[in-house]
Amino acid sequence: MVDKILVIDFGSQYTQLIVRKVRNFNVYSLIKHNSITVEEILNEQPKGIILSGGPASVFDINSPKINNKILELGIPILGICYGFQLISFSLGGRVEKSDKREYGLAKLKVDNKNKLFLNIPSEFNVWMSHSDKVVKLPENFIPIASTENTEYAAAFNPEKNIYGVQFHPEVTHTEFGNKIIENFLFEICKCNPNWLMSNFINDKIDEIKKIVGNNKVVCALSGGVDSTVAAILVQKAIGKNLHCIHVDTGLMRKNESKEIIDFFQKNFVINLHFVDASRLFIQKLKGVYEPEEKRKIIGKTFIEVFESEIQKIGDVKFLVQGTLYPDIVESGVFSSNSSVIKSHHNVGGLPENLSLHLIEPLKELFKDEVRQLGRELNIPEILLKKHPFPGPGLAIRIIGEVDEEKLNLLREVDYLFIEELKKSNLYDSVWQAFAVLLPVKSVGVMGDERSYAYSIVLRAVTSIDGMTADWAKLDHQFLNLVSNKIINEIKGVNRVVYDITSKPPATIEWE
Ligand code: XMP
Repeated sequence: MVDKILVIDFGSQYTQLIVRKVRNFNVYSLIKHNSITVEEILNEQPKGIILSGGPASVFDINSPKINNKILELGIPILGICYGFQLISFSLGGRVEKSDKREYGLAKLKVDNKNKLFLNIPSEFNVWMSHSDKVVKLPENFIPIASTENTEYAAAFNPEKNIYGVQFHPEVTHTEFGNKIIENFLFEICKCNPNWLMSNFINDKIDEIKKIVGNNKVVCALSGGVDSTVAAILVQKAIGKNLHCIHVDTGLMRKNESKEIIDFFQKNFVINLHFVDASRLFIQKLKGVYEPEEKRKIIGKTFIEVFESEIQKIGDVKFLVQGTLYPDIVESGVFSSNSSVIKSHHNVGGLPENLSLHLIEPLKELFKDEVRQLGRELNIPEILLKKHPFPGPGLAIRIIGEVDEEKLNLLREVDYLFIEELKKSNLYDSVWQAFAVLLPVKSVGVMGDERSYAYSIVLRAVTSIDGMTADWAKLDHQFLNLVSNKIINEIKGVNRVVYDITSKPPATIEWE
């Protein structure tokens, strides 16, 4: 069994980051909601528990609390920021409310003989972001670090093995933050670093074999990283009982469907069903201008095509989906009622009336771990580093009505942009890059002649997870080169603009 660290989430924006930092040390970690019970914790048999930070104040009536029995289990605990305040508050220390926020870097002085700070200098910079602070420690707690503003910047209880820090060791601004996490894992929790991709693959293969038996399984293969890795992992487990379906929606990038088919046929013995439904999709999108309507039509049509293919295969019991950990994690302090900004991720969703059982072999993994897994499965780097591509494809990158002519035009522009990024070694430095076709024609002059043609937007963003993004500061000379090439080589475009909006307030896609 792999050693495990539970991260109890109190709503910090850094909770997932804590989990990733722990996993970087080959120790398995997962997020649990703060309503977790003592029994649930014991069932998980963790080697340690981390209480995350969070936006609440322990004084608020509705703020999330912790069952004191969890603090009595004898399992090592590290409280970070709100987590530390909560430990102190729950065990009889005093937390002081403050309207003044301490935000940014602070110089920390530590007792570097303490296990948490072993092999770290006695003074270094840490990242602070808090209003309330601990002003009296609970009984039997010993201070082990301070800053100019915060007397108890870290403390511990040697008998209970409970530690608390006011700063954030998980953020990169904190010097020696990784070392502090490493010390907690190995010096305090005595973890074994046994969370390894090779073990993960073997365990998953066994698990999938057991669940599926001799039944048929289908997988919608979009050509993206997640569905490719999921399909190949399942293929390793059950071989010919896996049926992959690739639907060409006609909304794909240049040569994309062909490349996907070629790649799978060349590299794997796999049942691959290719459906060219491009005419159907384009026909259904005729006369449709509104983004949400486009998304709904595409989602619905996809499911119809997919379902009919499943009927042809016959007697299918399971569906593979490339769901990732951030998609399923239940986090936050308060229930989220965030409004729907876009009806995302509907393409490839489970057709409800098919009553297939879901297999989600990647649901414990983050994107970078999926890439690592892909490498272990010998999937070429070029595929693993592919930029994300939305299910509704180019339809949401053509503003307004979609037709064949615009699709072909956009495919050429997009291809040229991406090829130039690759040639200049810029492709991997951006999270995503693409072109958008505006239904706006403007006047230009080409040679001696007046032109009246479409405008293209180039968009390139940097991001960690797509939730927030910044526009990529691509070199002006590079943009100049791409713009000239597009105008000179692609007929139908006479104006190129670069999108310099971040997310928020904009979204990455235009529709
Ligand atoms: P937005 O436009 O919301 O996009 O900032 C964030 C990320 O999600 C991708 N995206 C989608 N992915 N189905 C998908 O699988 C969709 O309907 C969809 N819409 C947007 C987008 O490309 C970006 O990476």
